[in-house]
Amino acid sequence: MHAGDVSAERLAARLGRWTHGEGTLAARLSQAVAALIHGGELRPGDRLPAERALAATTSVSRGTVVAAYADLAEGGLVERRQGSGTRVAGAAASAVPPHRPGRGEALFSALPNAIDLLRTVPQIPELAVQLITEHTPRLELALLPETDPAGLAVLREQIADLFRAEGTPTTPEQILVTHGAQQAISLVVNALVGPGDVVLAEEITWPGVTDSVGLRGGTVHGIPMTADGLDVDALEVAMARLRPALLAVNPHHQNPTGTRLPQAARHRVAELAAQYGVPVIEDRVVAGISFDGVVPPSLAAERPDAPVIVVESVSKWAWAGLRIGWLRADPVLVRRLRGARQLADQSTSVPAQLLAMDLLAHADELKRQNSRIHQERLRLLQDLMATHLPDWSAAPPRGGLSLWARLPVGSAAALARVAATHGVSVAGSAEFAASVSPDDHIRIPFTAPEEVLAEGIARLGAAWREYRATL
Ligand SMILES: Cc1ncc(COP(=O)(O)O)c(C=O)c1O
Repeated sequence: MHAGDVSAERLAARLGRWTHGEGTLAARLSQAVAALIHGGELRPGDRLPAERALAATTSVSRGTVVAAYADLAEGGLVERRQGSGTRVAGAAASAVPPHRPGRGEALFSALPNAIDLLRTVPQIPELAVQLITEHTPRLELALLPETDPAGLAVLREQIADLFRAEGTPTTPEQILVTHGAQQAISLVVNALVGPGDVVLAEEITWPGVTDSVGLRGGTVHGIPMTADGLDVDALEVAMARLRPALLAVNPHHQNPTGTRLPQAARHRVAELAAQYGVPVIEDRVVAGISFDGVVPPSLAAERPDAPVIVVESVSKWAWAGLRIGWLRADPVLVRRLRGARQLADQSTSVPAQLLAMDLLAHADELKRQNSRIHQERLRLLQDLMATHLPDWSAAPPRGGLSLWARLPVGSAAALARVAATHGVSVAGSAEFAASVSPDDHIRIPFTAPEEVLAEGIARLGAAWREYRATL
């Protein structure tokens, strides 16, 4: 199958409740396909399913599909050619297809002896090293009744206090402590997403979300992004049309694009979630790594009645290896997830929770320290790129740990293969695209030590020159 071939089943799943609305059935079908084209879900060059196949999958007559395709062709949205079917109009770009499960796993697959530019795992900041070294576990807090699947009571209180301090009213019953943010994400997806459900996410996003949804048999519909993150107008259209089971967003210093959603857009996301009753996973894992001192408050602070599930961890500002994360949700959902997590792994490691309490007591300082370190590391990366990859472009992020760099030509996946032969492992569009997207970006984390980063970018530059010469 051609990379841009859209099967009848996939198209039908993306169309949502298209039969509702005004006009003939054919007109409604044509409008629903047009919305997917305008929303970026269908891309130039994508081949739509044969009329007969789409008719069978959507339970309408072939004549309805023929009329809908004719309407789209008349509007210039599709092109029809004898022998090559119906394609979305416009120049075909090299693209990554959606639904490749296990994309996140690729980030853990650096080749032996290669420089790993796959993962955004920061070094432990100096203050955290000191706190870890000096830590004495308060064992009196760790008696058997404290191995609650929701987490140590004192830790849940401490986390609730931190939420309140940033303006988000929170009780300890709203907190579930997890083994890292990723466990929180999978628990929520497992609880709220079933086979055939649609989940909305930024079109470029963390694969821990897309893979979890794929494992549940759900479909991720990527929402287009602007220079400021999620396009909220497109989100509203998708909310209304697709009736999603969940929205997953990473609005503050997004991994991988580094974008930060402005206040007005954050407010609208919270409003839309409340209006449509769609639960939101708000991933704040990198929110605290900020280069201008701005750490936006949670979406939950924008509208307290919106069904927002906030996910955080100590991974990006203290120690990823500690595996401590948490979520904040309404107490009923927390209770339900507590049951699910008890089945998965009983409860979070108690020694890790006790140590996390010491780190959380210094959270602000640790975040500031790690922000300073990574702001400098970003400057170094920009200098290195000016030398080794001068024709690439990237909007400088205001926070976070990665640069989303665009290749002027060629395929990011093909470049990654050449880079591997030069001893550097990188990931890009193929790992982070939620739905069909151009295969033209590489994510460059700036978390490696300076000399490792310098060598990694020098190797990537050599790989790029070799690859570019073949185009
Ligand atoms: C956006 C995002 N969400 C979640 C995670 C998972 O975090 P944790 O290490 O706390 O499980 C990561 C880790 O890289 C991430 O970048």
